[in-house]
Amino acid sequence: MLRLLLATNNPGKVREYRSLFQDLPYDVVTLAEQEITTEVDEVGSNLEENARLKATALAAESHLLTLADDSGLEVDALGGEPGPLSHRYAGEGASDEDRVSYLLSRLKEVPWAERTARFRCVIALARPGGDIEFCHGECPGIITFEPCGEQGFGYDPIFYLPELGKTMAELSLEEKNRVSHRGIAAREAYQVLVRLKNSLAE
Ligand code: IMP
Repeated sequence: MLRLLLATNNPGKVREYRSLFQDLPYDVVTLAEQEITTEVDEVGSNLEENARLKATALAAESHLLTLADDSGLEVDALGGEPGPLSHRYAGEGASDEDRVSYLLSRLKEVPWAERTARFRCVIALARPGGDIEFCHGECPGIITFEPCGEQGFGYDPIFYLPELGKTMAELSLEEKNRVSHRGIAAREAYQVLVRLKNSLAE
């Protein structure tokens, strides 16, 4: 079976991709399973550049078809911050809780109607030879005043989905994958992976 390397150490992302790709005719493996400890510096200025940097470096190292995603939260009242800096927003070594608290503190004076935001995800699929394809997903929502819910990871407890009347952290894995930025991008990636498999079989 063809192998697909998930180039992330984020257990939340691994859980989501494993579920999204469960029917795919690929053996999905992680960096930890491949004993790859390389940390690729995310020095790009946008999500696409960072996804490309991670996917190409790890495909070259592993000699495997590699999926890397770069994702982030854009808050309108903060001019699009934290964006590509979402993971480092409260400094190196900060926890998800620290990042959530820091973001809420930056929005203390902002009323509900102005707390609009979106999650964005860019997936880069890189072949060891150098070919690369991108898939995109976006999910709009509103930043709550307080965290709510225990599921998911990152900023999920403060990301409210008006149509569902819940935060992202109140959704099951399957519900989140149906609407999330990563779910949308991953369904596009799924089609690319099926096409790739079929072209190799020809
Ligand atoms: P990176 O893509 O690993 O650079 O980090 C993205 C960061 O954005 C994560 O560490 C989270 O803080 C945040 N993020 C990305 N996707 C999600 C999501 O699905 N839910 C909540 N936070 C997310």
